[in-house]
Amino acid sequence: MADQPLVRCERISKHFGEGETRVDALRDVSLDVFPRQLVALLGPSGSGKTTLLNIIGCILDASSGSMAFDGETVLSEGRWLKTNLRQLRLHNIGFIFQFHNLIPFLDATDNVALVLQLSGEEAGAARARAVELLDYLEVGHRRNAMPANLSGGEAQRVAIARALANRPRIILADEPTAALDSKRAGIVMDLLRKVAIEQDAAVIVVTHDEKIFDRFDRKFVLRDGRLETGDADPAKLDASAGVATVGGGAGGL
Ligand SMILES: Nc1ncnc2c1ncn2[C@@H]1O[C@H](COP(=O)(O)OP(=O)(O)OP(=O)(O)O)[C@@H](O)[C@H]1O
Ligand SMILES: [Mg+2]
Repeated sequence: MADQPLVRCERISKHFGEGETRVDALRDVSLDVFPRQLVALLGPSGSGKTTLLNIIGCILDASSGSMAFDGETVLSEGRWLKTNLRQLRLHNIGFIFQFHNLIPFLDATDNVALVLQLSGEEAGAARARAVELLDYLEVGHRRNAMPANLSGGEAQRVAIARALANRPRIILADEPTAALDSKRAGIVMDLLRKVAIEQDAAVIVVTHDEKIFDRFDRKFVLRDGRLETGDADPAKLDASAGVATVGGGAGGL
């Protein structure tokens, strides 16, 4: 591929605690994700998926390893090179969390418009774009609702609109479709595909959701903190456990 990776992780390790309580959540994980790619991160519960997403999202420190965005090193030997991680996140990364994390005292529109205003957009334009995104995700009719009054699926769609509002080039999603029926899961995947193409973005999705397995360009499997070599072969996915086995050794990393 001619492009350079938009996200390059090199030998990232992360442990929590020390001594007897030490948990090695990630062990030497190396991963390249290219622009316009939709990548799935699979693996059993506790295998390190959320930990990896949080490090790529610059909201969790690594114990060791390096990371670059679009050729620019942001993490080297386990240390952040950028002092302003908040700005880095705001401008580059859209995060859809496992739980929606909406701000409880702002309505749906303002939850989405807020990130635009934080990056300097005027309030009216920010709200207009927010409503446009909410409409696209079929939750526009709930634009004045407070998060506590939204259903789980509605809140998740507002959170997705918020993650996409700033047109980030790196989109990270932790189980984005788990609360959605298959039609709405399809709308979300269509939107992520559209964003990947239009914004030249990379999309990394942690998922157990069989409904969307065939929507990804590449699938990677974490097991016990290690990324298994090569792309997962969808034909060998053990769907009942939400766990994948890896097809032939070639390709991948
Ligand atoms: N803050 C923390 N402190 C201590 N241990 C942690 C912490 N966060 C995660 N872990 C441990 O690290 C390992 C990986 O956790 P992680 O949340 O990344 O798993 P996951 O693959 O996302 O699992 P799930 O599918 O259940 O969401 C687990 O053993 C978990 O208990
Ligand atoms: Mg998780």
